[in-house]
Amino acid sequence: MDKNRVLIFDTTLRDGEQSPGATMTHEEKLEIAEMLDDMGVDIIEAGFPIASEGDFRAVTEIAKRSENATICGLSRANFKDIDRCWEAVKHAKSPRIHTFIGTSPLHRDIPGLTMDEMAERIHDCVTHARNLTENVQWSSMDATRTEWDFLKRTVDIAIKAGATTINIPDTVGYTEPVESADLIRRLIEEVDGADTVVFSTHCHNDLGMATANSLAAVAGGARQIECTINGLGERAGNTALEEVVMAMKVRQDIMPYGSRIDTTKIMNISRRVAAVSGFNVQFNKAIVGKNAFAHESGIHQDGMLKNRETFEVMRPEDVGLSGTSLPLGKHSGRAALRDKLEKLGFDLGDNELMDVFVRFKDLADRKKEVHDDDLIALMRSNEGEEDHLKLISLKVVCGTDGPQTADMVMNVDGAEKTVTATGDGPVDATFNAVKELFPHGARLQLYQVSAVTEGTDAQATVSARLEEDGRIATGQSADTDTVVASAKAYINALNRLIVRRTKSAPGADIKGVSYKDAT
Ligand code: KIV
Ligand code: ZN
Repeated sequence: MDKNRVLIFDTTLRDGEQSPGATMTHEEKLEIAEMLDDMGVDIIEAGFPIASEGDFRAVTEIAKRSENATICGLSRANFKDIDRCWEAVKHAKSPRIHTFIGTSPLHRDIPGLTMDEMAERIHDCVTHARNLTENVQWSSMDATRTEWDFLKRTVDIAIKAGATTINIPDTVGYTEPVESADLIRRLIEEVDGADTVVFSTHCHNDLGMATANSLAAVAGGARQIECTINGLGERAGNTALEEVVMAMKVRQDIMPYGSRIDTTKIMNISRRVAAVSGFNVQFNKAIVGKNAFAHESGIHQDGMLKNRETFEVMRPEDVGLSGTSLPLGKHSGRAALRDKLEKLGFDLGDNELMDVFVRFKDLADRKKEVHDDDLIALMRSNEGEEDHLKLISLKVVCGTDGPQTADMVMNVDGAEKTVTATGDGPVDATFNAVKELFPHGARLQLYQVSAVTEGTDAQATVSARLEEDGRIATGQSADTDTVVASAKAYINALNRLIVRRTKSAPGADIKGVSYKDAT
């Protein structure tokens, strides 16, 4: 491989999906994996197979379907996890087992292992994984807060036991660029056999330096970057794939590294990940934010008209943003809708298209022009076939003379139920109606409304985040009627929460790890 080639390891479906509230359904995971494979990601971390039956099924299916990418699964450093991971990834043309343990003093405390015991555990687990496959990745979790001598020792043991990739995670987003580069450089210089493996960087964005730290690690000798689409991930997220890839592309003069990513596919996958995870992209987010290529001020517009390079370091087309785009209207047919949706990254089957077409027509009746953003919002509001709860109708009375009431009909597991509820305002009355029809203990953590386009007929996009027993789910919906969008977003979050209830296996998360499991 070219010595300046950087492997892109995408962990949207593992570290990204682990983010509270970012649940994806099985079908959504398969769709994202296909898009990642198609855009040229080298390694897809498809999940954490031992965490749940759902994760196992998703990793297995992605492994079976992948065309080009290596498919990787995560496993804690114990034989049971590694075996389960192998059972899932072994179907891939190119499978990888990724195993890890927290090596910093704080993380060593959790399983209560001494340094010697941990060293032995690393040796045994990497050896065990290597007996299953030749492609094994080792991660010393919280490497950037691990004592230098011990970090070196863990890396040395992993290489001797046969690991082919060594990942140095900045688990809590603690490092900074100079330190990040030095750490990799010193490991490569000082550990025997370092030249026989690929060093990898995995950064979190707690201090806003994940992209800079990842690129610095590459300057220090790392040749794999672990990242997620839109920087999705726990807390402040992971390194954003689109940022590191575009930075290397734009600044070839000082970062002569390259990836295999087709950057014109970035926008579509960004939109899709935002839609299925329920995590909106902030407007001013680098590369994929709505404003990333918008030039509002007079000075900027003038400069742009004369020479676009005045205020742009890359072209919108480079990341897959088309130039002008004509809106659809109520006379637009199915073929025009399909064509537009395909350009926006939504590849629909005939039945799905029929369903979307009906909703598009309904929207076009209420709104003169249906813009790209309207369609993206419409796609986000897609209801699932297997949803337990479905809104059938809603009538709300509100205004200056109370009381505010909501008449609601909802389908609950196949049965139609009706209620009239009151509340402090129309949205409160609506949410109370849902609660009466489907009693639950979930707490509303976030309720957010924004307009998709300009004008008073604009659709409102609503996000609702619910929490129940530590499980979090985010729902989204869009409608020209803000209260209807609110009801649907709330119901969507509840549906996702119901999926979560059945999905999470106790003790299967990375943070509450039990290392006492059998090796
Ligand atoms: O942040 C981290 O350390 C991780 C590891 C499991 C690689 O996600
Ligand atoms: Zn991580």
